[in-house]
Amino acid sequence: MSRFWTTTVSDLTPYVPGEQPASQSLLKLNTNEHALPPSEAVMTAIRACQAEQLRRYPDPTAKGLREAIAQTESLTTDQVFVGNGSDEVLAHIWLSLLADRPVQTLDTTYGFYPVWAQLYHSTLTEVPVRADFSVDVDALMASEHAVVLANPNAPTGLALTCQEIERLLAGNPNRLHIIDEAYYGFGADTVAPLINQYDNLIVSRSLSKSHALAGLRVGYALAHRDLIEGLNRVKDSFNSYPLDAVAQAAAKVAICDASWQAQSVAVITESRSKMTEKLEALGFEVLPSSANFIFIQHRVLSGRTVFDGLRQQDILVRRWDKPRVENWLRITVGTLAQTNALLAACAALCAAEEA
Ligand SMILES: Cc1ncc(COP(=O)(O)O)c(C=O)c1O
Repeated sequence: MSRFWTTTVSDLTPYVPGEQPASQSLLKLNTNEHALPPSEAVMTAIRACQAEQLRRYPDPTAKGLREAIAQTESLTTDQVFVGNGSDEVLAHIWLSLLADRPVQTLDTTYGFYPVWAQLYHSTLTEVPVRADFSVDVDALMASEHAVVLANPNAPTGLALTCQEIERLLAGNPNRLHIIDEAYYGFGADTVAPLINQYDNLIVSRSLSKSHALAGLRVGYALAHRDLIEGLNRVKDSFNSYPLDAVAQAAAKVAICDASWQAQSVAVITESRSKMTEKLEALGFEVLPSSANFIFIQHRVLSGRTVFDGLRQQDILVRRWDKPRVENWLRITVGTLAQTNALLAACAALCAAEEA
């Protein structure tokens, strides 16, 4: 605390990201990085970067990357915004479109939303999810306030269908909807094809999960060009060159590598099915996930007991000390070998409980 802090900074409760342990011996299933390494084509693009690309400033508009995204999504380049991870994209969305305004989200969702609401002075209503963690679309429709939803939701992994989100969009053309598709690519519907139909929709995406590029820090938003122009006004008032030259080159190749995506999603889907089936057999409740993580609770053991028990066996997962979810754990889907290690550790915990 310094006497020079502004009131906003003094009042902030910053987001706490999942632990990034230095030890390589831990099985790290706590921050939903992709289980596989990125595509070889991406690594080749990074190695091909020239000193001259680093000496000079990068393209402030990331035109090549935005063109590749636009082409993949059948949109135009002016409907695409890119940023330094989707957290930065979402922060710019918040500042340009939600600051000083009332906003609604869910009571069980991504923990960064309340932080941006505080930073940018939005009054945030947290609409409760139902007892089974499903989203009450009617409750969101009852208010005219802008809606921020993660789809699939985090930490539950549950997804709304495209039709359910379209009901919200059509229900009030003057209500803005931010759909955070950070976990796009693992089975949930996307609403990106609705961008040309609805100017009250912004979709944000991340290359951190779907493309195994969390370390590169690339995210993007898709929306009507007037909304994108608003984001560019904020970006150009904050940091004109958010994406470095290496990130632009690598992300462009990643976006175009459809075969890596198809192969890698098959690995995640297989691991996720195995985790679900075997954990259920061990007495865990597992929510149906459309993401590269699962959300589970044991019928007898507390969330804290399972978290600590896994940690003692060198497995790191994510747990929150919040009333609705304190007995639940969010676990990243790993490779099949990692899944086997997780299942063996869970089986040992359950056996110890029964002994
Ligand atoms: C729901 C959700 N949105 C956005 C992000 C931010 O992702 P990134 O900044 O890595 O693109 C995350 C990261 O975990 C997330 O869970």
